[in-house]
Amino acid sequence: RLHHGEAIPEWFTFPDVTRILRERHPANARQGFALFFTGLSGSGKSTLAQAVLARLLETASRPVTVLDGDEVRRHLSKGLGFSREDRDANITRIGYVASEVVRHGGIAICAPIAPYAGARAEARQLVQTQGRFVEVHVSTPLEICEARDRKGLYAAARAGKIKGFTGIDDPYETPASPELRVDTSQVSVDEAAERVIAWLRAEDLA
Ligand code: PPS
Repeated sequence: RLHHGEAIPEWFTFPDVTRILRERHPANARQGFALFFTGLSGSGKSTLAQAVLARLLETASRPVTVLDGDEVRRHLSKGLGFSREDRDANITRIGYVASEVVRHGGIAICAPIAPYAGARAEARQLVQTQGRFVEVHVSTPLEICEARDRKGLYAAARAGKIKGFTGIDDPYETPASPELRVDTSQVSVDEAAERVIAWLRAEDLA
């Protein structure tokens, strides 16, 4: 720990320096965090992420960046497909951008399917060098997601028109110990968003 006004030794790593600067500037004292929603297609990730975003914008004094699944694939991950390799690359990119947002004391809301535990763990590690990583498993059951079928993708997957669709003929590894789990077939989007906000408040993050 350095004393106020003391020069930062040049052998300090970047994370050290960011942490020290944050400690020295009370305005940035609250650390950034990533809110990482994971769940099946149609589980309600994006809707929930938007509802949480609206609430955070009312109160948060920090910038919020949203890295939504579909949005990310149009820009950051343009050209990537849905093989395991490409899905993992997608999550690593999201994790990296989120870690940069968190490094600057911001809030990163991510909402990809993120079906593989290994890639989620890697994103967690990247972010945790800079701040908090809050994994929210949107655990709406497959039957419900498929019954909703908002984009008609489940029907296409069942008909064999889409190969390797998560939950149908591609895996979703259920998170073993997420910070939070919410099932949008059991609670309304508003209620689910309130639970996320309440959890963040209890952790002094919101
Ligand atoms: S991943 O696995 O985390 O990289 O997926 P993600 O970037 O979140 O993209 C998921 C959205 O892509 C559409 N889509 C598919 N999903 C799953 N499997 C296959 N094969 C697939 N092909 C296209 C689908 O609309 C997902 O959107 P959401 O919003 O999750 O329903």
